[in-house]
Amino acid sequence: MNVVVIVTGGAGFIGSNFIFHMLASHEDYRIVCLDKLTYAGNLSTLKSVMDRPNFRFVRLDICDRCGVERLFEEEKPDIVVNFAAESHVDRSIENPSVFLQTNIVGAGVLMDACRKYGVRRFHQVSTDEVYGDLPLNRPDLFFTEDTPIHASSPYSSSKAGADLLAMAYYRTYGLPVTISRCSNNYGPYHFPEKLIPLMIVNCLYDRPLPVYGEGINVRDWLYVEDHCKAIDLVIHRGRVGEVYNIGGHNEMRNIDIVKLICRELGKPESLITYVTDRKGHDLRYAIDPAKILRELGWLPETRFEDGIRKTIRWYLEHRDWWEEIISGEYQTYYERMYANR
Ligand code: NAD
Ligand code: DAU
Repeated sequence: MNVVVIVTGGAGFIGSNFIFHMLASHEDYRIVCLDKLTYAGNLSTLKSVMDRPNFRFVRLDICDRCGVERLFEEEKPDIVVNFAAESHVDRSIENPSVFLQTNIVGAGVLMDACRKYGVRRFHQVSTDEVYGDLPLNRPDLFFTEDTPIHASSPYSSSKAGADLLAMAYYRTYGLPVTISRCSNNYGPYHFPEKLIPLMIVNCLYDRPLPVYGEGINVRDWLYVEDHCKAIDLVIHRGRVGEVYNIGGHNEMRNIDIVKLICRELGKPESLITYVTDRKGHDLRYAIDPAKILRELGWLPETRFEDGIRKTIRWYLEHRDWWEEIISGEYQTYYERMYANR
């Protein structure tokens, strides 16, 4: 019988790339996408797979217990991969409550349904941000799976909450969970409120490029396809009850990313505008991926120089996708966040 995988948040950035990866590499699997279609979810992203016989899209909130149970009853999933989340740190600083609801309560609803329907794997897609940050002057330090949880923002603490809940469900009920904690992703279908797509889009309109603080904060960038391949490995071969860090040792300062995007697009660095820093801004993230390499043989395949060019090209060739997004609620968001910053 076909394996049934429910992918929550599959109309968002990483979830959609994961669906494309799964449909391409497991042709006999049935993939069911459950997504609420918040501002960050886009049905147009899934256009190319919508008519596949082994794909189904269901608009649903992961906090809707009855709806979730109905779907599990219908589909009898083997595996559930939870990408659904409020994912933007700046929005969490502005209004934390929806983060607690979706990221913690919603994850709990999914885990209850997994228990009830005997799902053989619940995978929680988490983030390196649960570890807090590392100092800028200690390049020798990295996050390992044993680094204590020390989240800084409402977003990251809500993700940490879901991780704790998943581990508690494993220990208390024996729910077969795995957790992955990945570093910053980039690639196609990345919502243009996040650093890389925001800078590409603003460059294309010759708009100011708002760099927070001095631009010296460091993020560890991974091409989204590499993240998807890592999750595929973890759900099939990862050990139950374990956390796997995912990252490719590709640390870069924000300002260097922004300058690189300017260069690639032939835009002047004079567009760069330093703006008020993010509250509680994490200084540096850096993943030690030794465990996933050792246990599952995962290594990133896309070098940053190639991935960023591919990404920029994708945004140039898919203007219709992001122009539609930035014509709606995004305008109000942008004004609110950046007008007097
Ligand atoms: P995203 O914001 O692009 O997409 C989130 C998706 O979840 C959207 O389609 C949205 O409609 C859906 N969603 C939100 N609330 C929902 C709800 N209550 N019920 C059902 N669907 C809901 O996010 P992303 O960047 O693709 O991140 C996906 C996951 O990966 C998140 O859990 C995030 O914490 C994690 N993560 C992201 C990164 C990154 O760099 N983007 C890195 C590591 C981990
Ligand atoms: O590390 C994984 C995390 O990466 C994920 O868990 C989050 O869901 C994802 O949003 C991302 O969080 P960041 O806060 O690191 O990503 P963001 O793109 O918002 O910001 C990256 C860096 O760029 C950060 O240091 C803040 C800075 N920044 C961001 C924006 C949007 C700017 O300087 N200017 C901006 O306009």
